[in-house]
Amino acid sequence: NEIYLTGLGGTAPDLPTTAAGLEARARETLSAAAFAYIAGSASTERTAANNVEAFGRHRIVPRMWRGASAPDARDLSVDLFGLRLDAPILTAPIGVLGMVHPDAEPVVGSVASALGIGSVLSTASSTPIEDVAAVSGENWWYQLYWPADEGVAESLVRRATAAGAKAIVVTADTPGMGWRPRDLDLGHLPFLKAQGIANYLSDPVFRSRLAAPPESSDEALQIAVLTWVGMFGNHTLRPADIARVKEWTHLPVLVKGILHPDDARAVVDAGADGVVVSNHGGRQVDNAIAAVDALGPVADAVGGSSTVLLDSGIRSGSDILVALALGADAVLYGRPWVYGLGLAGRDGVQHALRCILADLDITMGLAGLTSLAEVDRSILAGG
Ligand code: FNR
Repeated sequence: NEIYLTGLGGTAPDLPTTAAGLEARARETLSAAAFAYIAGSASTERTAANNVEAFGRHRIVPRMWRGASAPDARDLSVDLFGLRLDAPILTAPIGVLGMVHPDAEPVVGSVASALGIGSVLSTASSTPIEDVAAVSGENWWYQLYWPADEGVAESLVRRATAAGAKAIVVTADTPGMGWRPRDLDLGHLPFLKAQGIANYLSDPVFRSRLAAPPESSDEALQIAVLTWVGMFGNHTLRPADIARVKEWTHLPVLVKGILHPDDARAVVDAGADGVVVSNHGGRQVDNAIAAVDALGPVADAVGGSSTVLLDSGIRSGSDILVALALGADAVLYGRPWVYGLGLAGRDGVQHALRCILADLDITMGLAGLTSLAEVDRSILAGG
């Protein structure tokens, strides 16, 4: 309403109202390194582009005169593991945000919480877990990049649990970084910077692996970064390992980065409470299947017995509606709010999130839908 009313007065909002507009503004405004890091994907970046285009192949068939169009007729709320969100959106875990904004994760966590949606805090956060938790309200989850050092993995999960996370999201698709030419061409590898490991530096078990405190000298900090690089890739993980996370926490555990229904079945059979269908925004395997194209088969395989989320390519309210129709319980929203963060800090994140919330709400109403319970494949052409 606010954006509409401002528009009526002839005043343009400070920031564009679409994901594409935010990206274009960010390209003009952010440093080359920050923009390359956020926008960059693997190799030819075809998967990243296809993630977005694939949504366009699923068409919603709007229904009329069903009492859904009045703004107060609609209820977008969803229950995830007993946690109620006002809309089926959580901010995706995004690492190394310190290169975009000095106070990134607390800003994102607190804005998401104030808007009644959720947030997922990345392992590669630039602020320690406890400091983010203090301002992130009730609806935040923790994402684990499971390091090869088991003691550090356990410590991170226990810290997140103690700090009040409501679920643990274990990322399966990143035992190593994808081939990302934009970062490589600039000679700027954000993961090798201290900004990506601030949370590790605050971890007592990680610190116990260092000969000298990382604060003591530049050399000690460099050694800490290299120690982290050494433990980042864990090539030994198998579905059965989910049982160990369950020993470290009582929280629900989701596995992120699932694209094949057999992998979804394997992790759910091994005890996972949910999966996130995702190709990491196209940053890992180029020419990978678009996430939304992988969603239906995964939801068919495990949707009855577990929670299914989707990310990679969500750019509008109708994309969210398509994901829900194909079997997602909720979505993770990624790059657009990161551009907002880089462009205007707290206001920028708030703007990006409010725009997609408004878009989803209006689209549902105009499609004749009053609640998420009505959203299934029958709302899609051919569904
Ligand atoms: C990511 N993603 C990610 N995933 C994760 O599990 N842990 C992380 O630390 C990060 N970091 C990260 C940084 C940046 C800059 C991007 C763009 C992405 C992947 C993220 O959670 C999500 O899967 C994608 O962002 C979804 O793609 P779109 O919709 O943002 O293109």
